[in-house]
Amino acid sequence: MSNNILVTGGAGYIGAITTWELVRAGYSVVVLDNLSKGHRSALPPGVPFVEGDIGDPVVVEEIINAHEIDRVIHFAAFSLVGESVEQPWLYFGNNLIKGIRLIETCVLNGVKNFVLSSTAAVYGDPIQVPIPETHPLMPKNPYGFSKLGLENLLESYHQTHDLNVAFLRYFNAAGADAGGEIGEDHDPETHLVPIIFQTALKKREKLYVYGGDYDTPDGTAIRDYIHVTDLARAHIAVLNKMDEGLKHHAYNLGIGRGYSVLEVLKEAQEVCGLEIPYEITERRAGDPPILVADSRRFAKEFDWQPEYGALTEILQTAWQWHRTHPNGYDEGGENAAV
Ligand SMILES: NC(=O)c1ccc[n+]([C@@H]2O[C@H](COP(=O)([O-])OP(=O)(O)OC[C@H]3O[C@@H](n4cnc5c(N)ncnc54)[C@H](O)[C@@H]3O)[C@@H](O)[C@H]2O)c1
Repeated sequence: MSNNILVTGGAGYIGAITTWELVRAGYSVVVLDNLSKGHRSALPPGVPFVEGDIGDPVVVEEIINAHEIDRVIHFAAFSLVGESVEQPWLYFGNNLIKGIRLIETCVLNGVKNFVLSSTAAVYGDPIQVPIPETHPLMPKNPYGFSKLGLENLLESYHQTHDLNVAFLRYFNAAGADAGGEIGEDHDPETHLVPIIFQTALKKREKLYVYGGDYDTPDGTAIRDYIHVTDLARAHIAVLNKMDEGLKHHAYNLGIGRGYSVLEVLKEAQEVCGLEIPYEITERRAGDPPILVADSRRFAKEFDWQPEYGALTEILQTAWQWHRTHPNGYDEGGENAAV
């Protein structure tokens, strides 16, 4: 087994932090990203970077052969739920069709281990909370369907071609690298934590809270926030065990505790010491009231627990990033990470 790992989407939020963690752990990483959303300057200096598309078999084959890749972590995808409802073809095209091409090229070129970034969106509206991996898979939007499609395809390649596979179903990734230089910078930004801190920094007039009449203690939606570095380390733990064969293929990654939007807001105000204006508006179509992971399968099998177990710690790292990078990576400007 080589020590070389291909990370697709490595210039994105979770991909970049995972790339940094892999490099710190001594792996050789090659990043493939078309920079449709990512940031070149989020990557560690010296990491081989190919600006290209996962759907381009020539590029993927060249990388696999040139770097003797036998392990792939696949982050590259579009992930805006609302956009996927409005323009499903973007999600079936970029995530599913190009994802299928990527997997096919990997299998045909001898890749042995493949880790997929999956999502809680594969479950749809939960009928049981916390949500275990055995929960029915009933996506409610094209984004969730595109990820479930890749899970099924990988399962099939596992059966026919002995590909070792893992689908890591993340709940809500949040926070920034502890060094404060690598963090979340999406355009458009739809995630709660960055939006809260952008509002604190007066980059936005106010925070819109979608729905104040859910059947939750304070009426706002509850989500499970996992620190992005914990997610990154979970990927490394999976890679290290894959050759022995994993007991399962699907693993939830969350901390197993939910926080409402207003709870996150309150803690964020304490962390940054600023008042953050907000307004409660209509619910967003398709948002379940509560999404909390049952992550016991992963914790038990990998003897794992999140290092950032408290929301405040997650928010502190996020605030450190936003405070020092109010314009995100601002590529080429003073705030560029490298
Ligand atoms: N952020 C979360 O909370 C969350 C939750 C669940 C699942 N996920 C999944 O985790 C993964 C990473 O999420 P993120 O928040 O880091 O997203 P991101 O948008 O920051 O990163 C995705 C990266 O993939 C690249 N990319 C997209 N399509 C590509 C293509 N066809 N070829 C090459 N590169 C391409 C983008 O340029 C970007 O750098 C995604 O697959 C997402 O669906 C994220």
